[in-house]
Amino acid sequence: MKRVFSGVQPTGNLHIGNYLGALKQFVELQDEAECFYCVVDQHAITLPQDPKELREHNLDIAALYMAVGIDPSKSSIFIQSEVQAHAALSWVLTCSSYTGELSRMTQFKDKAKGKESAPTGLFTYPLLMAADILLYDADIVPVGNDQKQHIELTRDLAIRINNRFDKKVFVVPEGRFMREGTRVMALDEPTKKMSKSAENPHSRISLLDEDSKIKKSIMKATTDSEAIVRYDIENKPGISNLMDIYGAFSGKTHEEIEKMYDGHGYGDFKKDLVEVAIDGIRPIREKFNEIRKSQELLSALDQGRERAQTIADKTLKRVYETFGLGRK
Ligand code: AMP
Ligand code: TRP
Repeated sequence: MKRVFSGVQPTGNLHIGNYLGALKQFVELQDEAECFYCVVDQHAITLPQDPKELREHNLDIAALYMAVGIDPSKSSIFIQSEVQAHAALSWVLTCSSYTGELSRMTQFKDKAKGKESAPTGLFTYPLLMAADILLYDADIVPVGNDQKQHIELTRDLAIRINNRFDKKVFVVPEGRFMREGTRVMALDEPTKKMSKSAENPHSRISLLDEDSKIKKSIMKATTDSEAIVRYDIENKPGISNLMDIYGAFSGKTHEEIEKMYDGHGYGDFKKDLVEVAIDGIRPIREKFNEIRKSQELLSALDQGRERAQTIADKTLKRVYETFGLGRK
């Protein structure tokens, strides 16, 4: 059976970009593979976090995992910092990487832009991510397209270390990226990615948004003056993004949507999209509210940690042996 690993940062509520770009795949994969889904809180502190909020968010993300359909009896859900081996392996990988390759990471360049001096953790972040993946001998890593470069780096590191010691220290993982069109863009500025941290709350639809907020954000969404529902990312990024969202929640293709709204304006289309989105999100929100307060969540996280630890400790032991760290 193949092994799957992925992680999400506990830095706020997840939006439909996270859902369509990542979580939906997580759920689909759990019937064909042994899955590990991590709440990567050590990644979150690459930027300052409020300690109380961070702990709440750890539980929020874990509950959201379960609310979207990840079943803790099939998959392991756990919190990164509860398994010590992540930080430990990340150091070994740091010593096998080059500042040149890390400097080329576009996510680092974006996040450090305009800062005279960036936090070191932002720079070494991809090495912690590589450690997450390599600890579990993961074959498949489902992530959004924006993580492609980090997956490439993880593969490079695994291959480099395997070559250096002339044995299979690590499994070389593969990214499973969403098909084109599942990069969800901001509703107010459809040339930018939908993000948890954008200032305007109407730029995104959170998985925990109330129906009225979902409606408002969609009705406010930026389109264009042509008023024809037609898919054209280049020239009509706003309506194309909304069509992607419509399609992702309803299973309809762009062509089907174009046909349905032939002769209608954006108003009719948006009204229907509100319904489609609410129907998709409401059950997740309701399930979340139930799970978040339950003992079931805490037991799932305990069980997930145990399973994760067993595998991670074994890998770390193998790595230490390979590098000659410690005594045995
Ligand atoms: P993050 O919110 O950056 O921790 O991302 C969690 C997961 O969601 C990652 O796999 C991202 O690639 C994915 N993701 C984040 N934002 C988007 C977006 N706007 N569209 C599609 N996928 C996204
Ligand atoms: N860097 C990922 C993101 O920002 C989150 C992440 C951390 C991750 N470790 C991972 C994703 C391991 C997949 C596998 O979205």
